[in-house]
Amino acid sequence: ETVDWDANAAEKGGYDHYMLKEIHEQPTALRQALSGRVNLDDGTADLDLEFPPGFLESLEEIQLIACGTSYYAAQYAAGLLESVADVRASAQLASEYTFNGGRDPWRTLTVAVTQSGETADTLSALRRANGAGVRTLAVTNTLGSTVTREANDSLFIRAGPEIGVAATKTFASQVTTLALLSIFVARERGTLSAADARSALADLRGLPGAVQQVLDEAETVREAAETYVDASAYFFVGRTYGYPVALEGALKLKEIAYDHAEGFAAGELKHGPLALVTDETPLLAVLTEGTRPAETLNNVAEAQTRGSPAIGIVDGTVETNALDVTFEVPSLGTATPLVANVYLQLFAYYIADLQGRPIDKPRNLAKSVTVE
Ligand code: G6P
Repeated sequence: ETVDWDANAAEKGGYDHYMLKEIHEQPTALRQALSGRVNLDDGTADLDLEFPPGFLESLEEIQLIACGTSYYAAQYAAGLLESVADVRASAQLASEYTFNGGRDPWRTLTVAVTQSGETADTLSALRRANGAGVRTLAVTNTLGSTVTREANDSLFIRAGPEIGVAATKTFASQVTTLALLSIFVARERGTLSAADARSALADLRGLPGAVQQVLDEAETVREAAETYVDASAYFFVGRTYGYPVALEGALKLKEIAYDHAEGFAAGELKHGPLALVTDETPLLAVLTEGTRPAETLNNVAEAQTRGSPAIGIVDGTVETNALDVTFEVPSLGTATPLVANVYLQLFAYYIADLQGRPIDKPRNLAKSVTVE
């Protein structure tokens, strides 16, 4: 008799794929990202970042540069920075970034968001910012990576190693770390009260538990995937912080399931994509706090009228009894869409798994792309 022992499965902690293992590691990853950084007494984030005196106070613009999933984390963060730190903030695709000479490099902070710290497009954009004399900050998972050597400062997301090509826990850790950065910058600039900062920090502290609640529903997500696995395309919609999450949900599905998937700003559906909607194109919508769910629900109804099945991620903020499937999350302010994203990760995973895709190593893709 042989012992049924699969070393490969052991490495994946009993999960079938690294991606599933890493999805389930998110509560731990988020605890690590937050550890020692939440200062509820002072209502601030302790980030161990030192900027020149007066730099943050006189800042006019924050540019976040990134690729792929990191770009969606950057887009989420740009919204947070604009809303709490009263500073112009934008997410820019690293491969499209040009430092506009009309801006004041002394009043600009460029943040390179890169899990690996080695993405060629991001490094090249960072070099352009450095060349323009802008102060630069790396937000990365990788100690000693190239980005940490070339940026003025570094902030680590502490997600632990990610093996699956499709980024999962690093996205969650990036958004969480950048949310801490937004609180840090806002408190330095005096644009956020201690009370409001405490409430935002408390929401972030609720993330590991809220994500765990979603993970405990994995089986219901697998059942929904079984229902919709034969769809011809999948559309994802959201507003505000739900929009980058919709884009990220669609990217996960493309990457690992090889199915056609697109994310749209919910309000844009009627300006074109609605022509693609049929009864074979399920719509996945983020309908939680932090996403203007009432307006999004109108857009979902427009798709449902054209036969589209509707899957909604909800937290009770709006009445949603006409949806075909609802996935529930607890409300955590503007962090809620990050919790909703975990359902989209699981959905992409099960759609891919039901089709027998090589989930950890999708065709044509690499974990870290070191050419431009
Ligand atoms: C590759 C990976 C993506 C990742 C992107 C940016 O394309 O396949 O999952 O989001 O690079 O990677 P970075 O290491 O810069 O975050």
